[in-house]
Amino acid sequence: MKLIIINGPNLNLLGKREPEVYGNETFEDYLTTLKGKFPDVDLDYFQSNIEGELIDKIQEVGFSHDGIILNAAAYTHTSVGIGDAIKAIETPVVEVHISNTFAREEFRHQSYISPVAKGVVLGFGLQSYDLAIQSFLI
Ligand code: DQA
Repeated sequence: MKLIIINGPNLNLLGKREPEVYGNETFEDYLTTLKGKFPDVDLDYFQSNIEGELIDKIQEVGFSHDGIILNAAAYTHTSVGIGDAIKAIETPVVEVHISNTFAREEFRHQSYISPVAKGVVLGFGLQSYDLAIQSFLI
């Protein structure tokens, strides 16, 4: 099983960024935990703050990997381009958010990813990524 986690803008600052919302752990540390928990999963990781780079990566892996776990962060709420990229590929995408976006500001309730995603996991902190991996294993 070949999966990739793709993280969007500002998620490179996890551990430092608004810890009351996103926690104290860096994503690199959490990724080590995930890889230890799922030794049979070939787990790639990509992060970018740039919308076009996220689209390029979705296109690049979208015909080869078994699944994409995508936290498009703020682009979730704005990016028609990322939604179109997901529509264009064959690999299923699970949308992930660390926070419960529906319990936050109104503008975070809109997602261009959800209508084209296989499913959505949100609000469980970093464990949302763990649950998304599990969704590909059932
Ligand atoms: C986020 C939620 C988004 O609204 C926000 O812009 C992020 C992170 C989350 O994981 O909770 O950057 O995707």
